[in-house]
Amino acid sequence: MALYSEKVMDHFLHPRNVGVIEDADGIGEVGNAKCGDIMKIYLKIDNDIITDVKFETFGCGSAIASSSMATELIKGKPISEAMELTNKAVAEALDGLPAHKMHCSVLAEEAIQKALEDYKSRQGK
Ligand code: FES
Repeated sequence: MALYSEKVMDHFLHPRNVGVIEDADGIGEVGNAKCGDIMKIYLKIDNDIITDVKFETFGCGSAIASSSMATELIKGKPISEAMELTNKAVAEALDGLPAHKMHCSVLAEEAIQKALEDYKSRQGK
């Protein structure tokens, strides 16, 4: 079996939602101390719905594929649903990641959580 699923390769080679949202409502940046990879998530939120999301990831292929898939999973969704997105759900949506690459999907979960926290603190919530 190939190390990476077709979905991982697809999202790595053709990542969705790459970029920056200049007037983002929430921004989350996280890094993995061990590998040094960094992920940044930008959210646009209207009426508790994530209307747009973009990411910048300076990292490995699994981290790029995870960010791409995670942004697809939360786009158009309510904040409450995005809050519950786990790295496991991201990995499953990618048809799995090798065990030693699961930590890369954790970055996506953490970056989204941080961006949502940033949004809430800006709202004074
Ligand atoms: Fe660093 Fe994948 S090896 S996030």
